[in-house]
Amino acid sequence: MPTALIIGASRGIGRELARQYRADGWRVIATARKQQDLDELGQLGAEAHALDVTHADASAALGLTLDGETIDSAWLVAGLYGPRDDGFPTQDDFDSVMHTNVLAAMRLLPIVAPQVAAAQGKLGVLSSRMGSIGARNSTIGSLYRASKAALNSVLRDTALTFGPQGATCVAFHPGWVQTDMGGASAAMNVEDSVRDLRATLASITPDANGTFLNHDGDPIPW
Ligand SMILES: NC(=O)c1ccc[n+]([C@@H]2O[C@H](COP(=O)([O-])OP(=O)(O)OC[C@H]3O[C@@H](n4cnc5c(N)ncnc54)[C@H](OP(=O)(O)O)[C@@H]3O)[C@@H](O)[C@H]2O)c1
Repeated sequence: MPTALIIGASRGIGRELARQYRADGWRVIATARKQQDLDELGQLGAEAHALDVTHADASAALGLTLDGETIDSAWLVAGLYGPRDDGFPTQDDFDSVMHTNVLAAMRLLPIVAPQVAAAQGKLGVLSSRMGSIGARNSTIGSLYRASKAALNSVLRDTALTFGPQGATCVAFHPGWVQTDMGGASAAMNVEDSVRDLRATLASITPDANGTFLNHDGDPIPW
């Protein structure tokens, strides 16, 4: 039975990843930060672990939990959009968005990637097309855009380090998806986005290591 790890599985894309992998008979290790979400993940048949990705000690503890595991597919999903206006950013807004989307990845990817490499597996991070500098044609959401551009840099470093050890590491845009973050008028439902993300991750080969892909597998410029 293959194993999937989903970091940030309380709702939205992460919850649907957990649901679909379980429905396909995978073993699922999933994290969330609230007890009710952990209970619901348990009811899905996932092994649920408490993790706020901004807490360094809890991130290190995940490393102990995963010690000796091999992970076929790992997803770093937890993310924060932050302020909906693009005025003068507060220190708190900057810290919340950057700590959740960037600092957490810098801590967690080196913890998770060795377990993925041990399985010759795949690792996907939920970035966003909004983080692309090459495809940029709007400034809306500038703090979120900066955080996802920085996340892409972290993913490239992870790919350079762990790709040669056997982990295929990719940044994904999931589409504009109907979740709490994407809103009800988003273009895609979460089931379709996650079906595409899973299929694309399953189909890529090691030569995709260090790339930035749309949910359907089309490349996105950095
Ligand atoms: N939806 C879209 O259109 C879209 C587009 C491009 C990229 N993305 C990216 O896709 C990912 C998932 O998005 P979504 O639409 O599913 O968002 P969502 O519905 O807003 O869910 C966000 C998830 O991140 C978790 N999270 C946030 N801060 C956390 C923290 N400090 N520790 C642990 N978990 C934390 C949330 O947990 P809690 O429930 O505990 O808050 C929740 O599970 C994000 O990285 C997002 O940037 C989404």
